[in-house]
Amino acid sequence: MNAISKLPRRSVAMLCLVAVVSMLLAQACSAVKHEDFKTCEQSAFCNRHRTFADSMLKQSQPASPYSVIKNSVALDGHFLTAAVEHSSEKVPLKFELGFMKNGVLRVRVQEETPLKPRFDETQMLVLRDEGGSLPYASPESIKLASNTTDNRVVSHTISYLDSNSSFSIRMTERPWSLEYLVDGKPTIQLNTKGLFRFEHLRERPAREEGAAEDTTGEWEEKFRSWTDTKPRGPESFGMDISFNGFEHVYGIPEHSSPLSLKDTRGGAKGAYDQPYRLYNLDVFEYELDNPMALYGSIPLMLAHSTESTAGVFWMNAAETWVDVSRQKPNSAFSGLFGRGSASHAPAVSTHWISESGVMDIFLLPGPSAADVFRQYAELVEPTPLPREFSLGYHQCRWNYIDQEDLLSVNSKLEEHKIPYDVIWLDIEHTDGKRYFTWDQSKFPDPVAMQQELARNGHKLVNVVDPHIKRDSEYRIWKEANENGYFVKDKNGSSDFQGWCWPGDSNWVDYLNPQACRWIGEQFHLDKYNQSTTDLFVWNDMNEPAVFNGPEITMDKDSKHYGGWEHRDVHNIFGMLYHKATADGLYTRETPATRPFALSRAYFAGSQRYGAIWTGDNAAEWSHLQASIPMILSNSIAGMHFVGADVGGFFGNPDAQLLTRWYQLGIWYPFFRAHAHIDTKRREPWLLGEPYLTYIRDAIRERYRLLPFWYTLFREASLTGMPIARPMWIEFPLEQALFTSQDSFMIGSSIMVVPATDSNVNQAIEVYFPAQENWYDMKTYALYLAPLKRQFTLDLSTTLVFARGGSIIPTRERQRISSALMKHDPFTIYVYISRAGTASGKLYFDDGETYDYKNGAFIERELMFADAKLSSRASPLTKDTSAYIAFLKKTTKVRVERVVIVGLPSALTKATVRENGEEREIQLELGCKGSDSDSECVIRDPAVFIGSDWEISLS
Ligand code: NOJ
Repeated sequence: MNAISKLPRRSVAMLCLVAVVSMLLAQACSAVKHEDFKTCEQSAFCNRHRTFADSMLKQSQPASPYSVIKNSVALDGHFLTAAVEHSSEKVPLKFELGFMKNGVLRVRVQEETPLKPRFDETQMLVLRDEGGSLPYASPESIKLASNTTDNRVVSHTISYLDSNSSFSIRMTERPWSLEYLVDGKPTIQLNTKGLFRFEHLRERPAREEGAAEDTTGEWEEKFRSWTDTKPRGPESFGMDISFNGFEHVYGIPEHSSPLSLKDTRGGAKGAYDQPYRLYNLDVFEYELDNPMALYGSIPLMLAHSTESTAGVFWMNAAETWVDVSRQKPNSAFSGLFGRGSASHAPAVSTHWISESGVMDIFLLPGPSAADVFRQYAELVEPTPLPREFSLGYHQCRWNYIDQEDLLSVNSKLEEHKIPYDVIWLDIEHTDGKRYFTWDQSKFPDPVAMQQELARNGHKLVNVVDPHIKRDSEYRIWKEANENGYFVKDKNGSSDFQGWCWPGDSNWVDYLNPQACRWIGEQFHLDKYNQSTTDLFVWNDMNEPAVFNGPEITMDKDSKHYGGWEHRDVHNIFGMLYHKATADGLYTRETPATRPFALSRAYFAGSQRYGAIWTGDNAAEWSHLQASIPMILSNSIAGMHFVGADVGGFFGNPDAQLLTRWYQLGIWYPFFRAHAHIDTKRREPWLLGEPYLTYIRDAIRERYRLLPFWYTLFREASLTGMPIARPMWIEFPLEQALFTSQDSFMIGSSIMVVPATDSNVNQAIEVYFPAQENWYDMKTYALYLAPLKRQFTLDLSTTLVFARGGSIIPTRERQRISSALMKHDPFTIYVYISRAGTASGKLYFDDGETYDYKNGAFIERELMFADAKLSSRASPLTKDTSAYIAFLKKTTKVRVERVVIVGLPSALTKATVRENGEEREIQLELGCKGSDSDSECVIRDPAVFIGSDWEISLS
């Protein structure tokens, strides 16, 4: 019991009210409170490892104290094991190398005979099929060769093959280090800087009377008024991981830092002085350009050079810090970690430090970015196909006050012909922040309200936070309490208590599978009062945010199911709630439809359960700018369905900023406008003209391109390829683009160059990369790359370019929701490459169910060559009964227009061939052919979208 729980109920209620009000005030008027959050020096284990790194790096030839115990190396199936020991600690560590077919190397380390088990369930919670179906290489393909000098084994080379490639790893015995060789070159290196350090589990030493207080924080750690009792003592570990031959590393979201990660050590100009921190936290008014932790954590880092792309996935759910230091090529400055390096090749050295659990790392050798994305997706699964409506526009604010307010926003959007798919309700819709309930005085008939929305295909999303109000009259609290489903405090006997929106609260323990199932069931129609199948869910505050906890979260020594401490599972907690929510929505209908759930906290694997957003940003130009690298960093770390609050959460954007934010936001994979409760209303029509027109045009552009977005999500679900892509992914040889975050790609076809500055008529320099044609998507103006061009923009103009060689499917009828577009005809845009060709894809299905898994989809490969556009079924199309049934439902869906942009010669006639029939269409003006601006429109070729056809131009 804590002191608060002993107070009379009224006093507790008062205290909670004060806490919540001060939280609101803090949110409304202050910038980030640095003192609320730890630095590395204040986080004892981080400090120990960084201090150790300092001592190693001071040595001219640093040598790791860890070596392989003689004759301990053994190859067993697809694993190689070795015992490794510290020169003085003498606690053998078991190193396990697992070789996978796709070239991925898994490295696991823990004590050979641990004093007690370490938390090792992260693999079950993160990996595909709980880790049961990883593509390990066949033992016969693995060859071990040991190099011996003076009768002593010095190193081992392990090579293994899959059908196309061979992989090679070199492990040195004394000191222990490991190098992943790509094309014979050491590319990813472990412990070559000697920073590997493993704090083995130990008995608590008896404290001698009068002994000086322990300042290492090994057995107890204080932060402000909180004490973290550390019953298990020190159990952290760290490792240096170097990317040899690289100058840029990316990923490890979530931070508000630039796309190409800055140095955190070594005194480089502009370097941070703190490591990047991965520890899911609710940081009010987060600061930009900062390595501080934010709401989510994905410990995946990518390195890229003109030669290759490689990655490292550090699979650990505990607090983690990552230092980054570049070693510049051929320069006197060699970064902090550059000491002791034999060569002056460029390299990025990183130092990873985690507080507890098992060391479990995956090295992803690439060699292309697409390979790394595939290798990662094979570990953790790619993003599944989302519900189609969720790619539309989401209208949110804290809060739509009541039923009337919400329905009037719905009708105003319709009246102003602004397409939208979802309207959202924040915490105030509940009865006193008791989730799964409604404030019936404000929402007297939620079912009628949802039905009214559904009339034009609109959906509702309700927030359902993870904290449960302590109220014995509240069914959810009562049932969780009776079943013992709450997280326990540090003694493991009482429930953990803390404050959040409802005041005094408990948290369901998502480590407990029964508790997950139970909470999932609360989303079922018979449990969630007055919900319908058109209601979906928003999980907020699931870091978890605990207003009166250390760093605004749960105490690390709280206890979870299985006896694990919160410390072990902190970064995964939010994901488990997201999963339980998605599972609940999945099981609420038979047959199941695809769930939609948005989460604020996330971890590697969260992409399986829905979308995430970048939390509480601000209505400032700098936040609009920062949203780009934040979204791209998440995208390349496998979190493809990601967005930022359009308009900025805190503060009031002026009309110009809001307009520009919509013009950018339509290119976020998850596109939602949101605002803090204290801000002025800002629904698009409130801005008046000309802003309303600009915003409506932007949103309509999103809807026009929905077939393209959905096709990209399909690709992501198969290959792990991101949807929003940094320029370097598409142009891997263009060094100038390796740090670029002013422009980005949607798929491989569209380049977006957003206006992110307050100058009304700002000049923007656009770099058109590669030897390609680029076309302005509105005017069809042609730009021959490589080219740099200045553009001066007024507020009605945006810079969006189609890459020559792309074919982009659209739907152009103006509707007010994606549901109403389902049977609309398609328009196909062909943007001709310099070679006179183009290709693209179109995928669609019912957008709701899982029938696509049985083949109920249409997937077309579209090709343009020799003045002929053709459509043929993708190889994944199979004549299943589900496919045939889907074809029947879509027989009326045709291509109503083909627009060919950039035709080199004048044409007058199109000959259409479908099902053995042939007909001719005269082409209109515009098919004149010229070097620029040429647009050729073929009106109503009337071909069925699902059949094979050809259109030849002459
Ligand atoms: C914090 C979330 O980040 C924000 O989006 C939401 O409006 C508030 N919580 C209130 O629920």
